[in-house]
Amino acid sequence: MSDTITIFDTTLRDGEQSPGCSMTTPEKLEIAKALVDLGVDVIEAGFPIASPGDFDAVSQIANKFGDQTTICGLARCRTEDIDRAWEALKGAQNVRIHVFLATSAIHREFKLKMAKEEIVRRAVDMVKYTADKMASRKDITRPNVEFSPEDAARTELDFLCEVVEKAIDAGATTVNIPDTVGYATPNHYFKVISHLKQNVSNINKAVISTHCHNDLGLAVANSLAAIEAGARQVECTINGLGERAGNAALEEIVMALRTRKDYYGIESKINTPRLFPTSRLVSSITGMKVQRNKAIVGQNAFAHEAGIHQHGMMQSRETYEIMRPADVGYIGQNLVLGKHSGRHAFRNRLIELGYQLDEETMQKVFDDFIALADKIKEVHDSDIIALIENRAQAASSIWTLASFNATAGTGSLHTAAIKLAHRDGHEVMDASTGDGPIDALFRCLEKITGVHVKLKDYQVRSVSSGTEALGEASVEVEHNDRTYNGKGVSTDIIEASATAYLNALNKVLSGTNAKAIHPQRDGV
Ligand code: KIV
Ligand code: ZN
Repeated sequence: MSDTITIFDTTLRDGEQSPGCSMTTPEKLEIAKALVDLGVDVIEAGFPIASPGDFDAVSQIANKFGDQTTICGLARCRTEDIDRAWEALKGAQNVRIHVFLATSAIHREFKLKMAKEEIVRRAVDMVKYTADKMASRKDITRPNVEFSPEDAARTELDFLCEVVEKAIDAGATTVNIPDTVGYATPNHYFKVISHLKQNVSNINKAVISTHCHNDLGLAVANSLAAIEAGARQVECTINGLGERAGNAALEEIVMALRTRKDYYGIESKINTPRLFPTSRLVSSITGMKVQRNKAIVGQNAFAHEAGIHQHGMMQSRETYEIMRPADVGYIGQNLVLGKHSGRHAFRNRLIELGYQLDEETMQKVFDDFIALADKIKEVHDSDIIALIENRAQAASSIWTLASFNATAGTGSLHTAAIKLAHRDGHEVMDASTGDGPIDALFRCLEKITGVHVKLKDYQVRSVSSGTEALGEASVEVEHNDRTYNGKGVSTDIIEASATAYLNALNKVLSGTNAKAIHPQRDGV
């Protein structure tokens, strides 16, 4: 008999805490839509008290998608946090508030400066407060309240049992057991969850949840161990996005459960062919690249290079393949269209790739495709996706690149002249010198936009194959101690670099990182 698991996605909350991955509200709405299409059960949309932007995003996501899935807002164990979360969520249909309070000795002593009794009292009071608040809405008969004892994996087991038991008595319907610092190992975490199952008298009244960070590279393994021990909710992010080494990767957990259903006997509601397009979308919006050999959604995840593998595959696919590429919506390096392909074929291909664009965007991307097909002989799926992402990026930008000129050569003085178009319609032109054409361009972009940043990382790679391929540039910059990522594509890598830098400057200008409060670092 098979059992089901609740997939709780926290890409928009824990994932967004990753440096440089802050998103605007329209970007979050786009990801939320993709998560709904993917079939996740709960979307943790943000931390409403953190900033007006976070509040707005949670509220818009809840009102737009709360009839299709459950939307959750995070709150510390403080009345003002809970009030703010409820304010953002209260108008939507299916909502959850997630309250958390650290319980480990190290957090009690150094972060909270609170004794065990105070922690228990605060957790119980705040879970009750949350449940009462939600129950003020007539149609909510069983308030959906999640409680997390932060740093649970490093908490004394007896104390963890006590907090969890009392939180359930106070009204928590889900108890999440976070491995906040990625300290657990699979066997250890299995024992923690088993211990809770055996020693918390009311444990059957709540769902046990797992939330693992990847500092030791064990987040997915630990989550699976917790599921084996009885957890029936798993908290995870697309591409394993998250602070430091990230959170458990949703796509890996889902495909492990599906591929090894013989072993786990557990099903999720995830529409797995949406995994690859959702991964691309998150990578494109956050600017956080997916490594080529990443499990499930990496570009090489289904590439069989070795002759012996290819021979085996030709005899029977299952000799070397445990999942079919189509099961995860994998997009390879297929050669699809050329410059004589019509709009109709192009549109069909976009649908096959999982994109539904409005007429106006579709026309713009088609024009880009024709221009590209004119320049390069072979247009691959990955090129088409890059063009779509480029368009989406340009649509939300304050400044776009109208034209530029940069000189390269052996001398030491290089110049760049740039014309930028502002979204209000006016254009600005200027020129700068620099140590190479890229440096000159970057300086000129800073001069026009008035934003000065420190370049931390700059990379260029080809989107598909061949010397004529589209080039993708990515940059990581720092501004006021915050990190911003930018990405750009073009057949001209100098243009791709300028677009990537401008993308990062646009993010600084639109202030997507302006959070006043960090959920974990800012105490109780
Ligand atoms: O890692 C963590 O402990 C968290 C909590 C807020 C659940 O993200
Ligand atoms: Zn976390």
